[in-house]
Amino acid sequence: MEPGAEMNSLQEIAVIGGGTMGAGIAQLAAKHGCTVHLIDIDRDILDRAIAGITQRLDRSVEKGRTKPEARDAQLALLKPRTDVAELAGVQLAIEAVVENLDVKHKVFAALESAAPEAAVLATNTSSLPVTKIAEAVKTPGRVVGMHFFNPAPVMPLVEIIAGDASDKAAVDFAYEAALLMGKTPVRALDTPGFIVNRVARGFYLEGLRLLGEGVAGVDEIDLVMRTHGGFRMGPFELMDLVGLDVNLAVSTSVCEQMEKHARFTPHAIQQSLVAAGHLGRKTGHGFYLYDHGSPVPAYAVERRSFQLPPMLTDAMLAFCVRAGAVDASSTEQYVFCRILAAVINEAGLAYSAGVASSDDIDTAMIKGTNYPKGPLAWADEIGHRTVRGVLTGLNAHTGDGRYAPAPLFANAE
Ligand SMILES: NC(=O)c1ccc[n+]([C@@H]2O[C@H](COP(=O)([O-])OP(=O)(O)OC[C@H]3O[C@@H](n4cnc5c(N)ncnc54)[C@H](O)[C@@H]3O)[C@@H](O)[C@H]2O)c1
Repeated sequence: MEPGAEMNSLQEIAVIGGGTMGAGIAQLAAKHGCTVHLIDIDRDILDRAIAGITQRLDRSVEKGRTKPEARDAQLALLKPRTDVAELAGVQLAIEAVVENLDVKHKVFAALESAAPEAAVLATNTSSLPVTKIAEAVKTPGRVVGMHFFNPAPVMPLVEIIAGDASDKAAVDFAYEAALLMGKTPVRALDTPGFIVNRVARGFYLEGLRLLGEGVAGVDEIDLVMRTHGGFRMGPFELMDLVGLDVNLAVSTSVCEQMEKHARFTPHAIQQSLVAAGHLGRKTGHGFYLYDHGSPVPAYAVERRSFQLPPMLTDAMLAFCVRAGAVDASSTEQYVFCRILAAVINEAGLAYSAGVASSDDIDTAMIKGTNYPKGPLAWADEIGHRTVRGVLTGLNAHTGDGRYAPAPLFANAE
């Protein structure tokens, strides 16, 4: 089948890399009736991947969500192997090996020889440019990004990334393939962090800055974002869940690729926790401690008083009320406003730079990070002039240019 030809079913794919993401994508594809060649250089990892998938499906059978025969059929579709050499029947290959350009180049060069010419070659990279990965092949038009989220069988979002050389037909094919796997695809340009890993930076980094400035503690900041923002988790709970190291690696990579703009500067508190091996839930210690039943804050805030200019206070109040954060103290308003304004502004900057449509940006943030609302829809509710007023006030107050309003808000009538 030609890339981009109408596709009614996904019958055979290859997934390269049997780690966290590869195993999840393989499980997902098998669930949708697709034969999956699951390839890893490490036989033990393949065994672990198949054992993990089996365990998850067994649990699903026990809970009555999957029929035993469906589990058996899905497991039979998984074909683990340790070499890429021959993949004659695949329509699509999804690379999910370690985040290293040299390794990915080797994998893509091997895929180009092993897969049929018509097969689309996708990368699940989080932080490397798809355009750079595609340099390893003679036919870069067939290379696209398919960025799944962890856990892949559960998280609904897939960002479909067009590299500079990607053929439209290949991008459309990847989009259709994501739909056939039951996912919600969005389209994005090949820019640092794509949509989610870029727009979400403000949520984490502004939380960290508020902590570092002594405005509030980790539990207070998390509580504000849950109760006043309707987020399922605050920034510190979420960083602990994702892993402080994984989250820091994304911040660092986006910062490097964004010419070290102040918006993306990784925070020293997070760097020191990672250096000390406090990586979050997986080590029992991150911003919280997890050995006492319910988590307790592990990082003590050094409280400092702060004075806001009256102009900012007025704009903040309007922003908070329109954003739905009523009955908040002035400190809570400040916390809420800074974090949400950072997220909304980044969404506006991504939109103004043509990274994605406003609908796709909002969908990505809701489906990829469980945000309660799309940041651009939120901005519409708040009013672009109010958003600009808050951003301008915060920019003057924080003083490093990181709140400079996106054109979408700066030019609001
Ligand atoms: N973990 C996440 O939350 C997440 C989310 C989205 C995207 N990603 C991206 O997905 C990719 C994989 O991430 P992961 O977390 O699954 O990593 P992982 O470390 O769990 O798995 C990587 C696997 O690649 C295998 N591998 C290395 N070289 C190989 C080769 N030449 N051929 C075949 N297999 C090879 C390793 O043996 C390992 O099993 C990365 O690009 C990452 O940025 C990760």
